[in-house]
Amino acid sequence: MCGIFAYLNYRVPRSRRDIFQTLVKGLQRLEYRGYDSAGIAVDGTGKDQAANISLFKKRGKVKALDEELYKNESIDLDAQLDTHFGIAHTRWATHGEPSAVNSHPHRSDKNNEFVVIHNGIITNYKELKKFLVSKGYDFESETDTEVIPKLIKYLYDNRENDFVSFSTLVDRVIQQLEGAFALVFKSIHFPAEAVATRRGSPLLIGVRSQYEFSTEQIPVQYNCSDSKKAAVEEKNCRNRQGSLNALHSVHDGMAMEFYFASDASAIIEHTNKVIYLEDDDVAVVMEGKLYVHRVKRTAGDDPVRVIQTLQMELQQIMKGNYKAFMQKEIFEQPESVVNTMRGRICFDRDTVVLGGLSDHLKEIKRCRRLIMIGCGTSYHAGVATRQILEELTELPVMVELASDFLDRITPVFRDDVCFFISQSGETADTLMALRYCKKRGALTVGITNTVGSSICRETDCGVHINAGPEVGVASTKAYTSQFVSLIMFGLMMSEDRLSLQERRLEIINGLKKLPELIKEVLALDDKIKALADELDHQRSLLVMGRGYNYATCLEGALKIKEITYMHSEGIMAGELKHGPLALIDKDMPVIMIIMKDSCYQKCQNALQQVTARHGRPIILCCKNDPEISKMAYKTIELPQTVDCLQGILSVIPLQLISFHLAVLRGYDVDCPRNLAKSVTVE
Ligand code: G6P
Repeated sequence: MCGIFAYLNYRVPRSRRDIFQTLVKGLQRLEYRGYDSAGIAVDGTGKDQAANISLFKKRGKVKALDEELYKNESIDLDAQLDTHFGIAHTRWATHGEPSAVNSHPHRSDKNNEFVVIHNGIITNYKELKKFLVSKGYDFESETDTEVIPKLIKYLYDNRENDFVSFSTLVDRVIQQLEGAFALVFKSIHFPAEAVATRRGSPLLIGVRSQYEFSTEQIPVQYNCSDSKKAAVEEKNCRNRQGSLNALHSVHDGMAMEFYFASDASAIIEHTNKVIYLEDDDVAVVMEGKLYVHRVKRTAGDDPVRVIQTLQMELQQIMKGNYKAFMQKEIFEQPESVVNTMRGRICFDRDTVVLGGLSDHLKEIKRCRRLIMIGCGTSYHAGVATRQILEELTELPVMVELASDFLDRITPVFRDDVCFFISQSGETADTLMALRYCKKRGALTVGITNTVGSSICRETDCGVHINAGPEVGVASTKAYTSQFVSLIMFGLMMSEDRLSLQERRLEIINGLKKLPELIKEVLALDDKIKALADELDHQRSLLVMGRGYNYATCLEGALKIKEITYMHSEGIMAGELKHGPLALIDKDMPVIMIIMKDSCYQKCQNALQQVTARHGRPIILCCKNDPEISKMAYKTIELPQTVDCLQGILSVIPLQLISFHLAVLRGYDVDCPRNLAKSVTVE
């Protein structure tokens, strides 16, 4: 999905080359989100630099844009810019094909008076465009975004007073916008000023100064409803030194740097001090100071924005010696599952406490059903744990794809507990489903990997899965950590059920040994790579299993199609005779998951049905299974664990197969075509 990055240096001299590099690097940190074009806007590269804005936009990779910047010999790269504001964007096409003209920043007019970068979708853009066209504004792109710079210019051209502030214009713009957005504006009329705002799309601001901040909070201002009066008030206010509450430091006019981004991974190498904007916040940087205000006061508004310290380390988002982030993330799983359990499971006392749910546990225990909602891999984590949650909670458990759940206008009641499973915490369909359930009075629980994300903030309670930043578009370690988190929830719910104690202990012991067993599976990488070599020429791959391992089939097939572009299907072995058997012949590759659990015999039957049709399966089975080892088929032998945890181990060979196949085929493992890490549009 689209990525926003912007950088303002105030009284911190930087060469134009440095500024380009900062902007490009910021975009590179966002590449993992998926995109198809990129662009930046900086102060004019010609002589009269502050009076104009230069735009550079290109279809394709950020690297191509970077090269373009240095091709132009008329740009003075060594020019020192004491104060400067540059904005940058990676676009993932929704309205209009990937092209330079459709990419961001979008501009108000040929003079680039106002430029803007946008994440999200403006749903009423057609009406706005019609209005602006009728007023004589020309459009050049097919995007929804372009109405925004045109609208701000229209408001500027038609201002009532000579004095109108940049932020007042932005306030007026967002009052006209419907849909979701994170926006950053730059203008030749307000040099070295930045205005940023959001509604429904994440946006944060990193702050850096060589001085200690004298405050840890920024008070939120509220605008006066009368716009004329507001403009005058604002002007007076700014004339009275310090009367607007801003991010003040030791002295005014001190050197400051600000980083605006849709995602913390673009900021962390510069500063760990950040402010997360809330919906409808308007943040302004003027003369090196940051102000936050809101157009309207609403009940429950937090009157301050706290400067938070990001816990993430740059290390965590660097690839290290791995070929791709996805590979790194697969190999991190022995540690990431430990991080998920850390401080929550006490293996000495066999207790499980999820701090984020404790206060709501009584209410959850009284509910009439659990509904687990997610998209893609996160949905599969719900499928994977449904059976054990039914067993441990003795409640009916529904697992729903967020989009379908909304399409069906599914009945939801006050005594339902709804789980929203999402790595990013920003997936639009999951977020909409959350708002839908909240409206109907259900208790909402977030299972997310991103602290401060929308799902985190909007749910009543939740669990951070603590898997660490996941960069590869194809989710791996987040899946196994979501899996472990949901199991821990089941264990917490069953703590006082006498009849379940033995089962609980078995699972807790299984979780204790899990990191070692994951390492054993990862040690099979060479063997798995050899299998991938054999599968490389295939056009299709079936993955079959049932019971606790059905989710692995769905998730494995998803990994394969996501990054290898090979057709792949996860098949419930119980459904074999109802259709999929027709696909089987000597040429169709089938991976069959046959683990030592209550479905073992039924899986053996499915295997017979496949081999009787001359199918040549690759079998994922438990180590030392005498029945399977006497057969002449290829196998991947996995360590055995508790039935309900086996899916955590069985998914790893499929993650690895898809990774190796994608490398063999020369594809970009971390940024597969047409896909995005975080799907923030419906
Ligand atoms: C996208 C990603 C998937 C992810 C899904 C749900 O499709 O490419 O890897 O599983 O979104 O994302 P979430 O952040 O809600 O888990």
